[in-house]
Amino acid sequence: MASKTDSSIAAIVLAAGKGTRMKSALPKVMHQVAGRPMVLHVLDAAKALGAGRAVVVVGPDMPSVGEAVKPHPTAVQQRQLGTADAVKAAKASLGDFRGTVFILYGDTPLITPATLQRMLAAGAQAKSKPAVVVLGFRPANPGAYGRLVTDRAGALTAIVEAKDATPAQLKIGLCNSGVMAVDGAVLWTLIDKVGKANAKGEYYLTDIVGLARKAKLRCAYVEAPEAELQGVNDRIDLAEAEAALQQRLRRAAMAAGVTMTDPSTVFLAWDTKLGSDVVVGPNVMFGPGVTINDRVEIRAFCHLEGAEVGADAIIGPFARLRPGTKLGANVHIGNFVECKAAILGEGAKANHLAYVGDAEIGAKTNVGAGTITANYDGYFKHKTIVGKGVSIGSNAVLVAPVRIGDGALIGAGSTIARDIDADALAVTRAELKTIPGAGKRYRERKTAEKAAKAAAKDK
Ligand code: UD1
Ligand code: MG
Repeated sequence: MASKTDSSIAAIVLAAGKGTRMKSALPKVMHQVAGRPMVLHVLDAAKALGAGRAVVVVGPDMPSVGEAVKPHPTAVQQRQLGTADAVKAAKASLGDFRGTVFILYGDTPLITPATLQRMLAAGAQAKSKPAVVVLGFRPANPGAYGRLVTDRAGALTAIVEAKDATPAQLKIGLCNSGVMAVDGAVLWTLIDKVGKANAKGEYYLTDIVGLARKAKLRCAYVEAPEAELQGVNDRIDLAEAEAALQQRLRRAAMAAGVTMTDPSTVFLAWDTKLGSDVVVGPNVMFGPGVTINDRVEIRAFCHLEGAEVGADAIIGPFARLRPGTKLGANVHIGNFVECKAAILGEGAKANHLAYVGDAEIGAKTNVGAGTITANYDGYFKHKTIVGKGVSIGSNAVLVAPVRIGDGALIGAGSTIARDIDADALAVTRAELKTIPGAGKRYRERKTAEKAAKAAAKDK
C-alpha cells in the first residue's frame, strides 16, 4: 500500500479501454496530441491542480502506458466490467487516501486545470463538503451520454445512463462528462456498493451519486464547455482534438506576445516555449522540446524539434533544426540548412544549403553555402569543432573528427580531413588547367555533328 501524503488531492485516470475504433496496435491513450500521449495531458491537468498522487488504470498488456506515465503507478483492470470496476482497480494505491479523488479519463485530453479547480471550489464553498462533485455539460447531441438528474433546489440526485433512462429523463440536456471529484473518505464504501443490475450489466461509476444520496451525503455538479470534454474514440476524433489543442496553444502564445502571420498553419507542441516579440511565419512546425528566445524571427516552412534558439536569431525560411541544436544570440540559419546536435556561438551564420551535425561552431563563424559536416563514417558519429571567426568557403566538406582553429580560412570546395590551426588558410583543390581556345573548338565540332545528324534524318 502506498504511503499517506500531505496533499489533499489525488487523481485516478481511466485508461483501460483498448480503443478498438482507433484500429491501432497502440493503446488508445498513447496516441499523441500536440506531441505527446493523450494520457500525459490528463495527468498534467491533475498535476497543475496540485494533485500529489495519481494512478492510471490500464488494461492487461499495456506496458507502454506504464512506461509513459512513470513515475505514476498503474493499476491493471483485468476485465472491463464497467467504470466503477475500473476505479476499484486503483484501490490498492489510493485506498488509504482521505482527500479529494478526481476521476479523469485518459482519452479526454482537452480538460483544463481551471475546470478541475472549479470542481474543487464547488466543494469548498458549501458548509458540508459534497461527497461527489460531477462535471456536467450540455452537448449539442446528448445521445448516449448519462443524464444528470437534479431536484427542485438544483442539487444532483442521480445519474441515469441513457440505456436505463425513462423518456422524460432522456429529455434532460445536462449530461455526465464522466469526470468526478469524490471525497476519499467515502469513495471506496460507495464503490463497493455498486451493483450491475442495469441495461449493460456493468458496474456503473455513475451509480455512486444515487448511493451517496441514500447515505444522506450531498452531491453537486459544475458545468464545463463541451469543447473541453471531447473524448477520442477514433482517428477523426483524434484530429479534432489536435485541432482544438493547437488553437488553444496558438492563442496562448499570441496572448503572451508572439506574432503569428498565419496562426492556423503553425503547429506547436505541448511544451513549446516562445519568448516575447518572437515572429513566426506561415507553415512552421514545432516538435517537442523547443525553446525560442526573445525577438527571434522564424520564417516560413521551418521544422524545429528539441532545439534552443538564442535571442534575435533569424531562422529559415525552409530550415530544419533537429534535437540537440543550440543556437546563440543573433545566429542566422537560412534556407535548406539542417542542424543536428549543433552548437552555434553568438552571431554565427549558416545561410544556405548546409548540414551541420554533431558540431560546435564558434561565435561569428560563417558556414558557407553547401558546407557539409561529414559526421558519420558508416559506423560511428564524430564531432566537428570549429573555432570563432572562421570563414568556411562554399561547398566545403569537414570530415569528422576534425578541429578548425579560431580565425582560420577554408577555401571553397575543400575537403578537410585533418585539424587546421588557428588563422591558417586551408584549401584542397585539384590544380586548375586552362587550354586557350579549346572551348570554342569544342563548340564548333559539336554544332557540326548535330547539323550532320539532322541532315541524315531528313533524307
Ligand atoms: C460513461 C458514463 C456516462 C458518461 C460518458 C461520458 C458510466 C457508467 N457512464 O459512459 O454517464 O456520459 O461516460 O463519456 O460511467 N473504462 C475502463 N474500464 C471499464 C469501462 C470503462 O477503463 O471497465 C474507461 C474507458 O476506457 C473509457 C471510460 O472509462 O475511457 C468511459 O467508459 P465508456 O465505456 O466509454 O463509458 P460510456 O458508456 O461512454
Ligand atoms: Mg464513452
